[in-house]
Amino acid sequence: MTFAKQLSGQTALITGASRGIGRAIAFQLAEAGAEVVVNYANSPNKAEEVVAEIKSLGGSAYSLQANIADESSVEELVKTVLERSEKINVLVNNAGITSDGLLMRMKTQDWQSVINLNLTGVFLCTRAVSRTMLKQKSGRIINITSVVGLMGNAGQANYAAAKAGVIGLTRSTAKEFASRGITVNAVAPGFISTDMTKELDADAILSAIPLRSFGKPDQVAGTVRFLAADPAASYITGQVIQVDGGMVMS
Ligand code: NAI
Repeated sequence: MTFAKQLSGQTALITGASRGIGRAIAFQLAEAGAEVVVNYANSPNKAEEVVAEIKSLGGSAYSLQANIADESSVEELVKTVLERSEKINVLVNNAGITSDGLLMRMKTQDWQSVINLNLTGVFLCTRAVSRTMLKQKSGRIINITSVVGLMGNAGQANYAAAKAGVIGLTRSTAKEFASRGITVNAVAPGFISTDMTKELDADAILSAIPLRSFGKPDQVAGTVRFLAADPAASYITGQVIQVDGGMVMS
């Protein structure tokens, strides 16, 4: 007898997976045995590096370009995955951007671009995989939200609204899909060291984090891996799991 890898035989689509948290999720799900689809928007070389590295470690992966904020691009992405892999077992809605500024001066374009990717993109990807998962009567959808969606943040009204929206979307979808064996959960990171946070004033933030450090992408990815695992997380749906060093306790 051998121990089977938890996600072997499964296909996992991860949006925005060429760097940062998405990249770490790609590695962890590949390590758990999943065939990983590394979606990227504009960096084919970085996405191919992720694929090559996963393969060199004995995993299975391929990359696909798609703009997650665009309906037809998302439809095409999911169609291509289904043609190539014939199934989608795990969807991780990770792609996200910030475009910060105080509300009074926030341009409508900055509001819309953040809502379009961070919230509408989650809706588009979820809808695009739903037919397949409902037919399969199984699936895991994991949405990357943020503690900012729980607590708000000055200068991030667009981002906080989108991430709070993702929580409502997660819970509604969890209720709609539960009877078909599909779970939908959200992971809410605090401050994680990636390109997204490299400009921030670390000292000011660290004092608000009980564990006194920024998180690492792998610490978020480990939670995603757990939520994808069967049976470990199969009785969890509609939840928001914070990975924030204790920053927000409620
Ligand atoms: P990042 O900026 O390093 O990565 C974001 C990824 O999304 C990149 O690969 C980027 O190419 C991709 N992306 C951007 N626009 C896209 C589009 N239109 N279509 C497809 N992909 C697109 O940021 P990071 O930190 O890795 O963030 C990942 C997720 O985690 C985001 O949803 C972010 O909001 C969330 N998050 C990050 C936190 C942090 O402290 N870094 C804290 C809380 C949440």
